[in-house]
Amino acid sequence: MDKARKIGINKLQTSEEAEICARMMSGSEPYITLRRDYESSLKMISDPLREIYVARSGGELVGFIIIVMRGALIGYIQSICIAAEWRGKGVGSELMDFAEKRILLEAPNVFLMVSSFNNGAKRLYERRGYKVVGELKDFIVSGHSEVIMRKTIGPAADFVKRQLHITSARLFI
Ligand SMILES: CC(C)(COP(=O)(O)OP(=O)(O)OC[C@H]1O[C@@H](n2cnc3c(N)ncnc32)[C@H](O)[C@@H]1OP(=O)(O)O)[C@@H](O)C(=O)NCCC(=O)NCCS
Repeated sequence: MDKARKIGINKLQTSEEAEICARMMSGSEPYITLRRDYESSLKMISDPLREIYVARSGGELVGFIIIVMRGALIGYIQSICIAAEWRGKGVGSELMDFAEKRILLEAPNVFLMVSSFNNGAKRLYERRGYKVVGELKDFIVSGHSEVIMRKTIGPAADFVKRQLHITSARLFI
């Protein structure tokens, strides 16, 4: 826990960071079972339409999170991965805190998918207030589902109203 408290979170900037993240992801479950190899991980991490944030402790890159702010489900946490030796120390929770704050500035929902066999991650998301809203059977690999989860601060129409209120309040200050 002490170590985790010293982490800093920044946008991914260099191709070297992208390569470290791709190695971390492709060498770990659930991504091994999901057949996300180094090349496909690197492609995803290098896609400018996604936002990637990395967590560092000292000079070491200890984890990262991928966010998508476009498409049908705006505010989608596509992946999160912590270096194996850093798991269980609060880094994933800090990255989730960061991602949720960033998403909820622009959208009222945070979506993610968790593989049906990834019980540890599912437990973490449930503890953070995510609810199961659907299941995609055989979605990435045969025999496993991707479970869709959502955390919300309210309906979209109320969110738009609130945003307008904040904007007009700012205009009239
Ligand atoms: C899931 C993951 C992102 C959580 O990050 P973390 O830094 O380990 O999590 P924290 O220390 O903030 O919180 C611990 C909780 O994470 C969950 N967790 C899942 N896998 C874990 C692991 N291998 N080690 C430790 N905690 C894990 C558990 O719910 C744990 O709570 P518990 O101790 O009560 O069981 C991280 O363990 C990881 O990268 N796992 C492999 C990749 C993965 O599963 N990504 C999610 C894909 S949907």
